[in-house]
Amino acid sequence: MSIRLGIIGSGGIGQVHAQAASDAGHPAVVMCDLDGDRAAEAAAPWGSEPMTDVDAMLARDDIDSVVVALPNCLHAPMASKALAAGKHVLLEKPMAMTADECQQVIDAREASGRILQVGFVCRFAATVQAAMNFIEAGRLGRIYHVRAAMYRRRGIPGLGRWFTTREKSGGGVMIDLGPHLVDLVMHMTGRPEVASANAVSTSIFGSPLYDYRFTSMWAGPPDRDGVFDVEDGASVQLRFKTGLTASLEMAWASHLPDGTLPDGVTIFGEQGAMHFDIWGDHLVIGTEMDDQQVDVKHMIAEGEGWGTAFRREHENFAANCLSGTAPDASGENGRGVQSVLETMYASADRGESVTCS
Ligand SMILES: NC(=O)c1ccc[n+]([C@@H]2O[C@H](COP(=O)([O-])OP(=O)(O)OC[C@H]3O[C@@H](n4cnc5c(N)ncnc54)[C@H](O)[C@@H]3O)[C@@H](O)[C@H]2O)c1
Repeated sequence: MSIRLGIIGSGGIGQVHAQAASDAGHPAVVMCDLDGDRAAEAAAPWGSEPMTDVDAMLARDDIDSVVVALPNCLHAPMASKALAAGKHVLLEKPMAMTADECQQVIDAREASGRILQVGFVCRFAATVQAAMNFIEAGRLGRIYHVRAAMYRRRGIPGLGRWFTTREKSGGGVMIDLGPHLVDLVMHMTGRPEVASANAVSTSIFGSPLYDYRFTSMWAGPPDRDGVFDVEDGASVQLRFKTGLTASLEMAWASHLPDGTLPDGVTIFGEQGAMHFDIWGDHLVIGTEMDDQQVDVKHMIAEGEGWGTAFRREHENFAANCLSGTAPDASGENGRGVQSVLETMYASADRGESVTCS
């Protein structure tokens, strides 16, 4: 038995979802996008039907579930509309632009009784799943600190377009890469409540630097008349009510050669410490046994690396839809992550540490 999927948004990640849905055994019935050419191009490899009218797609009885892969400002309204139309929803990260918007989507889920899953795809990385096994087996003991980072050398997603326009995106790198990092920290440590955030953000690589000096730098052609009013780098300290601390570093762009700083997660526990690159093929764990320091290198099974995370996310989503199981990556988790992001933005905007009530 298979779900009958429509993918709303046929841009960068919509196309990744189309591949993953096919790999998971339920290829998209419809690829929808306002841009008809893009929908047609994205639909072709899977024999999906291209559509440009989302309302017409949501009215179809032969579609029971959708992926929402749209600009951030459309996440809450589109997910709520799809739920109201009786569809199960896999909603890309960030769940919405604000925690209040997240609540609106949760309310729509409650009214519809359908599945709402948030696209925290990093949870489906083989490295993260292996790390969770070690953590749940108690190998690290009590976790007291997590460091998580994502650095890109050339990775501003569409300079001058919606990603770099705060009104449409809600922010820059903190709301783009931040949901992955914040969710991983919370997911791997039992979802503690945040106590305070101290965030410093930078905006270095927009106009006029781009115009004059770094023309080879950006992903996709820039819109030179577009807006760049968001941060492209951030450094964040989080304290949680359990005593856990976390340190997050992220950059859309830098001059650092890729891989110079590990793009990944380091977890410090009282009985052991662990590091892994989210996109990598192994974990390193340091611990002590019989008064001896022990280093363990755990390899991910061949062929099960990062490239399969979206497929696993789709397998999980389909299984949840078919069985009516509430997803682990729930709306409540999404709202919790969004609250942390809001606190980070409040701190960066005010230039001071912000304490949560
Ligand atoms: N999980 C991940 O790792 C990951 C990676 C990339 C992007 N994302 C998220 O996915 C979302 C989309 O990102 P993207 O990189 O694909 O963006 P994109 O700009 O490449 O694609 C967005 C698409 O939505 C279409 N669109 C806009 N308004 C529409 C509407 N009202 N109806 C139908 N189509 C409409 C656009 O024409 C475009 O094709 C963002 O929220 C982003 O944060 C997640």
